Amino acid sequence: MAYPRGWPFCFVPASLLRLDRRLVRVILVAAIFMTALMLLQPARPHLPVGQPHLPADRPPPAHRRLEIRFKPSSFDWRTVKQRYPVPSLRALPTDHPNQLHAVQHDFTDYVHDATTQHRQQAVRSAFAKSWRGYKEHAWLRDELTPVTGHGKTTFGGWAATLVDALDTLWIMGLSDEFHDAAAAAVQLDWAKTKDTAANLFETTIRHLAGLISAYDLSGEPALLDKATELGDMLYMAFDTPNRMPGFWFNFQDAKKGRQIAGHNDPSASPCSLSLEFTRLSLLTGDPKYYDAVARITDFLERTQNQSKLPGMWPKLIDFRDQTVNTEIGFSMGAWADSLYEYLPKMSALLGGHLPNYEKMYRTAMDTAQQHLLFRPMVPEDDKEGQVALFPGDAFVHTDKINYVPESQHLSCFAGGMFGLGGKLFDIAAHVALGERLARGCAWAYNAFPTGLMPEVFSVVPCPSIDGACPWDEERWKKEAGNNMPRGFKSARDTRYILRPEAIESVFLLYRMTGKPDLREKAWRMFQAVMNATETRLANSAIADVTVTGKPVQTDSMESFWLAETLKYFYLIFSPPDLISLDEFVFNTEAHPFRRAK
Ligand SMILES: *[C@@H]1O[C@H](CO)[C@@H](O)[C@H](O)[C@H]1NC(C)=O
Ligand SMILES: *[C@@H]1O[C@H](CO)[C@@H](O)[C@H](O)[C@H]1NC(C)=O
Repeated sequence: MAYPRGWPFCFVPASLLRLDRRLVRVILVAAIFMTALMLLQPARPHLPVGQPHLPADRPPPAHRRLEIRFKPSSFDWRTVKQRYPVPSLRALPTDHPNQLHAVQHDFTDYVHDATTQHRQQAVRSAFAKSWRGYKEHAWLRDELTPVTGHGKTTFGGWAATLVDALDTLWIMGLSDEFHDAAAAAVQLDWAKTKDTAANLFETTIRHLAGLISAYDLSGEPALLDKATELGDMLYMAFDTPNRMPGFWFNFQDAKKGRQIAGHNDPSASPCSLSLEFTRLSLLTGDPKYYDAVARITDFLERTQNQSKLPGMWPKLIDFRDQTVNTEIGFSMGAWADSLYEYLPKMSALLGGHLPNYEKMYRTAMDTAQQHLLFRPMVPEDDKEGQVALFPGDAFVHTDKINYVPESQHLSCFAGGMFGLGGKLFDIAAHVALGERLARGCAWAYNAFPTGLMPEVFSVVPCPSIDGACPWDEERWKKEAGNNMPRGFKSARDTRYILRPEAIESVFLLYRMTGKPDLREKAWRMFQAVMNATETRLANSAIADVTVTGKPVQTDSMESFWLAETLKYFYLIFSPPDLISLDEFVFNTEAHPFRRAK
């Protein structure tokens, strides 16, 4: 989950600033429109809380079944002529697949005990409350402002929170709510937006993936129709001279055939569209979406060893000239993250077809392990901290490599990635690394007074990830800023914005290893999250995790709170066959896609 996810601090594309100003202008129009719309909504009953979970592959029981009827958008992107059509389409792979190994731990003797059931219901209640807040105060808007109770447009005005939450509603067995939301989602009009451009990455991982996984779980044909319609729009982003998409999908440029790839775009943006576009091809039988992303995969394969840190791709890539050897920054955090995440996930999705994904994964992780992982120096009696690992950054200069022991909440996904690659390809060392990374994030949560990890922080690093690393109180005191817990040096961004990556990895490693203490850590994290972020209506991002006492709530609830964070908290306390990792693979926004057999 790339730049894309965490706007880093130094570089904001001019087009985003334009977008923000435009938001101000549209707010009045939108408010009038939404008020009218809300008045037309029938009174909505409160959520039934306390239903048992439903198996993912059975339809929810019918109460007052709304018809989920597809309504086409007012503009059909299939009518736009491609300026740079491809000479031929690549077919989906049909060669003999590589054997993949089981991802989940063997849970044969699993018992769903009372404590776990109680925790599962507590998560479900938190979700139901936030959903109700969204429904009553921001229905069909992109986001709810969880303190002041308004709607907000952040992703084109296409009901981001609603589309992102569809599959969570299904998974939690909130079937009436799922039906209402799905019925609204299949009526969205992609041409009805005040924006002049869409963020290709965000629209793919949130909207396209949200619709695909809601279809994968429910089998409602209209959801696939809506996903395909959006896929046809986003497919136009590939209509550039070299078929590499730009960062922004500009509607007018696309219609006029004047799109061109960027010289300096976050690598994760074009390079993690593969799961969504491939699943769409698998579901529709139309290979064009897969063909579009396969060209980016070719580029990744060709350039993997050409960067300044061979084996990895830099944070920023020149997609127009297709070169990777000028940029010096390497990371598994913002800007680059989901590029790596999607390598093993593509293997999982395709059931072992296209072994080049495994090869790229192995090569990239060899490099990452050598250059990006570090261990914090912690006191000997801190048993949880002793095993912690974090991904940091490397800057490659002509005469030396600068290692920066700074990590981010976003990078916490890495535990799950090493775990998945380790399981699928039978690399025990990767599962072990994944577990240390996941435990590192849980430890960092607990180290701060709120029980939450800062968005960006740095630690005092050990010389290596495995050798001896005695605690040096003097060194820590010298390097650490005020109020930093033992082992930490500073927090450059002290917010917690309801992000999922830490619980994501703790959940995935629980399913992979079956270790029950991971559930205890998850419960500790959930309580801390609720304690600091709960509002009257829902949950809010907070300004500072390092404070003692009540942190300031910043009135923001991004759609990943319902799509990801609460889904992973719910699933770790659910029976392990609910969304089994051997049947599903999650996209970077926690949308489960059915894996090929
Ligand atoms: C890149 O280098 C690694 C390690 O030397 C090697 O295993 C891999 O095959 C190379 N990849 C490509 C695409 O040449
Ligand atoms: C909840 O937050 C308060 C401060 O607002 C803090 O004092 C308390 O320890 C927290 N409880 C838990 C379980 O985190």
